Amino acid sequence: MAESIEFFELNTGAKIPSVGLGTWNAAPNAVGESITAAVKIGVALKKVFEDGLVKREDLWITSKLWNTDHAPEDVPKAWTELCKTCNLTMLISHPDILPSTWRAMEALFDSGKARAIGVSNFSVKKLEDLLAVARVTPAVNQVEIHPVWQQPKLHEYCKSKGIHLTVPLEGILKNRILTTVAKKLGKTPAQVALRWGLQMGHSVVPKSTNEARIKENFDVFDWSIPENLFAKFSEIEQASIGNSL
Ligand SMILES: NC(=O)c1ccc[n+]([C@@H]2O[C@H](COP(=O)([O-])OP(=O)(O)OC[C@H]3O[C@@H](n4cnc5c(N)ncnc54)[C@H](OP(=O)(O)O)[C@@H]3O)[C@@H](O)[C@H]2O)c1
Repeated sequence: MAESIEFFELNTGAKIPSVGLGTWNAAPNAVGESITAAVKIGVALKKVFEDGLVKREDLWITSKLWNTDHAPEDVPKAWTELCKTCNLTMLISHPDILPSTWRAMEALFDSGKARAIGVSNFSVKKLEDLLAVARVTPAVNQVEIHPVWQQPKLHEYCKSKGIHLTVPLEGILKNRILTTVAKKLGKTPAQVALRWGLQMGHSVVPKSTNEARIKENFDVFDWSIPENLFAKFSEIEQASIGNSL
């Protein structure tokens, strides 16, 4: 019973791919390396476009607004700077933004430059505070959600406001229920965790720098977790991994 869920429609009408590639790989004390990696990815993307390997409009590229760019006048500058290397589709913000930061992001959306604007790691409380002052509802909240930290209240709240959830893979691949289900389906734990996300209605952005694992992570469309096995996920004891990026 395969489901066709290759895209999810956002509240802006734009269609976000249901599986993406997370590229942020900050490790403690390795921010410099991460920035270098991010710049390299931008340069690599530019070459991909120039070589005609893929058309710009065929890629959906999301970036987070850097914490030092929260002043409203810095937001359009940050957008322009990021677009120099990788032509963004959507800009998302960290939770500690000011109402004026969001207004500057709304202006980017109004101008048509950003096809969507969103947030990252926003709790229900943070979203309530933002929605109290926002003119444009965030299209996406990118946040830690996986079988071991399902966050049903946040999910329900976002659903009620039309906010789509994008989720990472996180370090849960040894979970007993996940590995048991994976074994039964003949899939890897990562594939089952990702497929769980898709069946919950979330887009998934697993980070990997390994070609075989990237391939594996995109092989999640022509099969699904049947209901009896899907129900097993409600038995998992919930715990945040807490690696919110
Ligand atoms: N983590 C959060 O709470 C959170 C919150 C908001 C937004 N995000 C965003 O979500 C994206 C991804 O999150 P993340 O960077 O925390 O990484 P992640 O997707 O949670 O996990 C990445 C880890 O899983 C491994 N991995 C990937 N595919 C695998 C597979 N098929 N089998 C086994 N291991 C696999 C990777 O190793 P290899 O590279 O060696 O394959 C890496 O160690 C990022 O862009 C981040 O900004 C994350």
